[in-house]
Amino acid sequence: MTSPAGSPETTATPRPDDFTDVDDVARAFAEHGYVTDRRLATTTFVMSRLGKPLLLEGPAGVGKTELAKTLARATGRRLLRLQCYEGQDETKALYEWDYGKQLLYTQILRDKAAELLTDTTSMAEAVDRVAEQDSAFFSERFLAARPLLEAVRSPEPVVLLIDEVDRADEALEAVLLEMLAEYQVSVPEIGTFVAEHAPYVILTSNNTRDLSAALKRRCLHLFLEYPDAERELEILRSKKTGLDDAAASQLVDIVRGLRGLDLRKSPSISETIDWARVLAVLGVTDLDAAILADTVSVVAKYERDVERSRAALPRLVDPNATVPHPHDHDHGHDHGHVHDHGPGTHRHDEDTGGKQVRAAKDVPGRHDEEYYGQRSSGSGEGTAGGAREIPATTRSVTAAQGARSFANRGGPKNSARRRPV
Ligand SMILES: Nc1ncnc2c1ncn2[C@@H]1O[C@H](COP(=O)(O)OP(=O)(O)O)[C@@H](O)[C@H]1O
Ligand SMILES: [Mg+2]
Repeated sequence: MTSPAGSPETTATPRPDDFTDVDDVARAFAEHGYVTDRRLATTTFVMSRLGKPLLLEGPAGVGKTELAKTLARATGRRLLRLQCYEGQDETKALYEWDYGKQLLYTQILRDKAAELLTDTTSMAEAVDRVAEQDSAFFSERFLAARPLLEAVRSPEPVVLLIDEVDRADEALEAVLLEMLAEYQVSVPEIGTFVAEHAPYVILTSNNTRDLSAALKRRCLHLFLEYPDAERELEILRSKKTGLDDAAASQLVDIVRGLRGLDLRKSPSISETIDWARVLAVLGVTDLDAAILADTVSVVAKYERDVERSRAALPRLVDPNATVPHPHDHDHGHDHGHVHDHGPGTHRHDEDTGGKQVRAAKDVPGRHDEEYYGQRSSGSGEGTAGGAREIPATTRSVTAAQGARSFANRGGPKNSARRRPV
């Protein structure tokens, strides 16, 4: 329903009855194939009660978009999606006039228009006469609503997903702010549309740029990380990949190990799922380094990442594998290098070491534009603010440095391992 300006209906009220409590959110999401944790379920529940937008930040593939889709399925609401991109303007977000339809109507009504103008004697008079008909052509009939207006106009409550808002320009962010503050949209020729039901609004960001403080202030905020091993295994199970449980559990550990490496693009949940499916199709029940190396391109999408992942796989598959350590032979350990992933130690370091490694990569200006354009993960471990606090000069010793030390042991014939980094 629309409510032109001046209508007594000026405030939108959230519907309090979609979820009874936090557990109800977790249950409903699980029913629709989305595995939550306590923090996620709590924030979603609070959002549903407060009617405030929820901003989800985090690397690509951790379930941000899926959360909004699941929220729509779980509540039976229609999902409206505004996919943001650079250069997008408000006509794609709010509304535009349907020029083609207006033109068609004027052609069909040509005779009627001529009739209207028969008794006019001057051009000015004819123009005035036409202008009197403005409202007929700038009416809701000719309004092409885009997702924001559509959400406000919808007679039924909806879920509005504003996806990858960090890709939008700041000008569009200002338009969003206006809409999110009041859940209303003004069309000067018609009036102000006010939402009858506050939509559930989910914004997502892959952290390719900082969002304005004003936008963040208006939203509940949740940083979505890669899940812990238990939840990732649960997600794998829920996707019925065909990989047996023991292998799936091992795979989760291996992927987590890969995330701890200094990769350009860390494997996401969706890639773990893909990998499990690939291994299941191949009939693999027992994961070994060879089969994982053969299929690692499912999760490593850059040549350098593939090499690094392959080099790390034997140790990730078997932490007790006896891999010769270059420094055990060459020289002592008093030169300031940190070997954060010697045999058997890596997986224990991963939760902290991996996080540090990825945070250290998230230094603005470290990569060129093309890189930021494609890369949407691995950038935002911890809170967004936390990641950016690391000064550009901070040098942390990365897992890859250790890997390079290993690689050099391969000798000059192994050209792949000698690639400069
Ligand atoms: N908590 C979860 N429960 C179930 N599946 C998940 C979960 N998180 C991620 N996924 C899976 O990962 C895929 C990628 O998630 P997506 O929402 O597209 O990532 P993002 O928007 O964060 O980049 C989803 O399609 C879904 O299959
Ligand atoms: Mg997404």
